[in-house]
Amino acid sequence: MNELLKAFEERFQTSSNGVRFFYSGGRVNLIGEHTDYNDGYVFPAALSLGSYVCIKNRSDSIVRLAATDLDGVVEADLRHLDQYKSIPWGKYQLGIINEFLCRGDKVRGADILYYDTIPHSGGLSSSAAIQLVTARAIADMNEIEISNVELAQLARRSEHRYIGVQCGVMDQFASAMGKERHAILLNCKTLEYEYIPLDLKDCCLIIANTNKKRQLADSKYNERFAECQKALSILRQYRPEITALCDLSTAELQELLSKLDDPVLRKRAVHVVSENDRVLKSAEVLKKGDLETFGQYLNESHASLKELYEVTGIELDTLAENAQKMDGVLGSRMTGAGFGGCTVSIVKQDFAEEFCQKLDKIYSAQIGYAPSFYRPAISGGSREVLEIK
Ligand code: GLA
Repeated sequence: MNELLKAFEERFQTSSNGVRFFYSGGRVNLIGEHTDYNDGYVFPAALSLGSYVCIKNRSDSIVRLAATDLDGVVEADLRHLDQYKSIPWGKYQLGIINEFLCRGDKVRGADILYYDTIPHSGGLSSSAAIQLVTARAIADMNEIEISNVELAQLARRSEHRYIGVQCGVMDQFASAMGKERHAILLNCKTLEYEYIPLDLKDCCLIIANTNKKRQLADSKYNERFAECQKALSILRQYRPEITALCDLSTAELQELLSKLDDPVLRKRAVHVVSENDRVLKSAEVLKKGDLETFGQYLNESHASLKELYEVTGIELDTLAENAQKMDGVLGSRMTGAGFGGCTVSIVKQDFAEEFCQKLDKIYSAQIGYAPSFYRPAISGGSREVLEIK
């Protein structure tokens, strides 16, 4: 904390008296990929890897942003926030402040220093962590009464309107509402949620990062969103009461499938509806402590994301498919949007070391560079903190 205070003073050339600290985590999604914007279920957990800020209000309308791992300071005027939508760094933060202003909240200028412990562009939602830590900090520094669930919705709106990605609510919700040692079973249509203990017995979660440089991920993501909307609009001609693909059960979709002429749309719809089903089944078996079956669902999810939704790629497939074959591994799949990013695996603790070593070797030989591995704890939601871990 002292180091951060020093960095704050150096970067902003101002005293750090009165600075406050906030935290919000990234997320790992256990299962339920590309279901959120189809109003289905997801099953994420917030991570102890995330984003911290130290923040101090100013007496003018200027916001200054800096990060410990980046040079320089981004300066923005609260009166003209629509001018910063395409800046390379800082737009996630400014998009959040813009949403508060759109709600009619009074926001003062501030100096904000970010310290991220989460890999960027790694598929663990570093951007949701940045959004939510900014949102909690701005709310509390300006005495705006707003719950973490509302902050998650605000952050999603910001991503749609300021960043231009048609994301679902999963990442923001997980970051805002995480609970230590629990996963969140979230109904993205109603935002009803249930915390389910993540009791992995003699197993642990290992996250493996492809370290692939993600290109065009946002545009491919929006393409998948558009395909789902298209499939929905066709199916609504036969079932006008549905408002999203996940309103259909697997059996109902089977009956309607021939109405989708385009094979691509058929594949997308089958993935979404079957994945939604897998989330509910996964939560059930996890509650019963049946980790073997849970692991099977993870493997099926990966196969569906590869074959039907086509968002994996050689890097994620190499990690997940080789992991699935290893001793001591119950299941492995890509997590997040795909197109690079991370996998999540359930591995017997006794095999954890061997798992990382073997996978590192195989992946490096096949792909040409090494993956990274993390075993973060499952953490709480967006909050003010008095210490930095
Ligand atoms: C990204 C989006 C989420 C979700 C996942 C895929 O992380 O931000 O809303 O759609 O991809 O499940």
